[in-house]
Amino acid sequence: MKIKETLIKLRKFWIENDVPNITDENAKFLQNLISQNKLKNALEIGTANGYSTICLTSVLQKNLGHITSIEFSILSHNQAIANIKEAWLENTCTLIHGQALDIIPTLPDNSFDFVFIDGMKRRSKDFLELSRPKIKKNWIIIIDDVIKFKHKMPSLYEYVQENKIPYEVIQIDSDDGVMMIVKL
Ligand SMILES: C[S@@+](CC[C@H](N)C(=O)[O-])C[C@H]1O[C@@H](n2cnc3c(N)ncnc32)[C@H](O)[C@@H]1O
Repeated sequence: MKIKETLIKLRKFWIENDVPNITDENAKFLQNLISQNKLKNALEIGTANGYSTICLTSVLQKNLGHITSIEFSILSHNQAIANIKEAWLENTCTLIHGQALDIIPTLPDNSFDFVFIDGMKRRSKDFLELSRPKIKKNWIIIIDDVIKFKHKMPSLYEYVQENKIPYEVIQIDSDDGVMMIVKL
């Protein structure tokens, strides 16, 4: 199976099983961001079953890019491996099983130009703080669900304000939006 067929299958599974995958609007937003900025080396926190990983990789591969995605549920990690294989994207994705808070510090510094944070909402600030040294100049960080789950992320909003990190909150669809942080 290839990308489109795998995504259709996963979307059906998502609807039937209430998997918290990104929405179509969010997928399009992220894909445009990668495409317009010619981003190549992405880090994702929160793979789940690999739906968003496949959406991002479908564009990254056109830029000859790569994604590293971290997931701590072994069940979800194994589902993601199978789904990425079905989409024929194994060569463009590195899936890591484990606690992102432990794994991010082991990744090389200055190596990513795009980070998508979609793990446990109350740890979004920790994911951001740990990811910052891992990112090159001209990087973009996207943190998902920052409107609907703002109440779970007070430390994230405090952190960006205290560190004077410019950010923008973008409403993506009627459901929710993302925080975008860009360093030029
Ligand atoms: C909202 S879901 C991700 C959805 C996925 N990005 C998509 O759109 O297809 C969040 C995922 O992050 C994982 N997760 C949460 N906190 C984590 C952590 N600290 N380390 C690794 N994975 C984590 C959860 O197990 C869950 O599968």
